[in-house]
Amino acid sequence: MLFSTFIAPLLLSIPTHASPLTLLPRATLTQVASFGTNPASLNMYIYVPDNLSSKPGVVVTLHGASGNAQQQYISDPYAQLAEQYGFVVVYPESPQGAWDATSAKSRLHDGGGASQSVANMAKYALDTYSGDASRVVNTMAAAYPDIFSAATMYSAGSSGDIQSMYPGYTGSYPKIQLYLGSLDTIIGSAAFNTTLEAWASVLGYDSTPDQVQTNTPVSGWTTYVLGSELEGIWAQGVGHPVPVQGAEDMKWWGFAR
Ligand SMILES: *[C@@H]1O[C@H](CO)[C@@H](O)[C@H](O)[C@H]1NC(C)=O
Ligand SMILES: *[C@@H]1O[C@H](CO)[C@@H](O)[C@H](O)[C@H]1NC(C)=O
Repeated sequence: MLFSTFIAPLLLSIPTHASPLTLLPRATLTQVASFGTNPASLNMYIYVPDNLSSKPGVVVTLHGASGNAQQQYISDPYAQLAEQYGFVVVYPESPQGAWDATSAKSRLHDGGGASQSVANMAKYALDTYSGDASRVVNTMAAAYPDIFSAATMYSAGSSGDIQSMYPGYTGSYPKIQLYLGSLDTIIGSAAFNTTLEAWASVLGYDSTPDQVQTNTPVSGWTTYVLGSELEGIWAQGVGHPVPVQGAEDMKWWGFAR
């Protein structure tokens, strides 16, 4: 059962000595008008839990192609999990619905596309809430490996040369988990192994799974472990998109142990 707790952003009168933590209302979806360079003119929404950690992680969750931030907020479990684990949730919103994930601008680090706007939202949240830079996680990651430490792709694919998105970058890449449904006709089942192969090459693994875990994490699904930082989850009988597995995300992103 979904319920909406959307409350329009409150206009607070802010004393001049206020710390950044008092700038935005807590525990409600709130728009952030200004967060830095925004080449793709995206909207930024944020959820700051009442139960905020002193050095919070930052979760960036992207809505589906026909969605928006509000829908994502009520349909994914991250705001609730934020109260439990203390992280901040950033909900970028594309006014066009669909994300520009494929243009040359977006496929390049600081290329002036949507990925740059999203990265700047993550940096804003990190700065404003004295966040833990090692705990910035996302549902997409290739153009900003320096910001995101882990990523989960729900019903998405990466193709081609991931490293070309950030030429000259020699640092580490995020750990990657990919979910794809066997009945997904939008992404197509071939994307499962091609995406895992592309990331295996970046993360230094061969493309043969080390482990194949049946009925994991859900009965009927199969988890392919290519290495400690790369897993593909084949969701048998599921279409597009695969439902968010909040408890699994908490483990993969390092919030739950
Ligand atoms: C508040 O967060 C802490 C850790 O960040 C957690 O142990 C505790 O259970 C949370 N409280 C609630 C009410 O969720
Ligand atoms: C992906 O590769 C594995 C072998 O590593 C194979 O068993 C599986 O059928 C492939 N999945 C798809 C969707 O092609």
